[in-house]
Amino acid sequence: MRKLAAGNWKMNGLKADLDQITALATDHPAPTVDILLCLPATLLTSAHAVAGQIALGGQDCHPADSGAHTGDISAGMLAETGASAVIVGHSERRADHAETDATVAAKAKAVWAAGLTAIICVGETEAQRDAGQTLDVIAKQLSGSVPEGATGANTVIAYEPVWAIGTGRTATLDQIAEVHDFIRTKVQTRFSAAVGGGIRLLYGGSVKPLNAGDIFGVSNVDGALVGGASLKAVDFGKIIEALSSQQHH
Ligand code: PGA
Repeated sequence: MRKLAAGNWKMNGLKADLDQITALATDHPAPTVDILLCLPATLLTSAHAVAGQIALGGQDCHPADSGAHTGDISAGMLAETGASAVIVGHSERRADHAETDATVAAKAKAVWAAGLTAIICVGETEAQRDAGQTLDVIAKQLSGSVPEGATGANTVIAYEPVWAIGTGRTATLDQIAEVHDFIRTKVQTRFSAAVGGGIRLLYGGSVKPLNAGDIFGVSNVDGALVGGASLKAVDFGKIIEALSSQQHH
């Protein structure tokens, strides 16, 4: 399967930052891994003009395709900008906007209905890990947030321990391996060995140029969802190169 380096710009990025996308596209004219940048919706249309081989995505969408939902954006609107993916259920959405697993699943279905790929995020808090609940939490989020009908073509799953996001703390390689192996088994059991085996599993949480190579060597890690280090082309470029060197292994 083709590996995926996905960036999540969160609420960062003005027009001047399109220069970073231009630089990244120029540096990676023929990538051997998939590269995706999930941008603020305000930048998607103008980014499309400079993105070259870099795919673009949104960071959230409403479950409905249109209607009286002030301030929200639909998956179809994101698709019209040229986006090919949407993140759903990021822990910041779950925390800041009280999104439940059912909401996240409804959003994932809306993403599919618009013909896009859903990047569905799961991850435990530090208190849950300390209480030994990590795998139970992940299992519950997977069954509630990933709808029936998930395939490798329409779905990517990102494991992002909440305590590792934006903190500079990464999960250990053993912790990543344990959860990624668990998720792989869960999706293979629920769907089929072939379908579950084709769903890409990303690690997210303080992925940086210096730790990316080690993380990408962990079994069942098919790429990364990168926040802070995706904002600068030079940093994200190094992460892409670390992933590219794993592609043929
Ligand atoms: P971070 O964010 O790389 O800045 O930790 C990851 C994410 O939230 O997707």
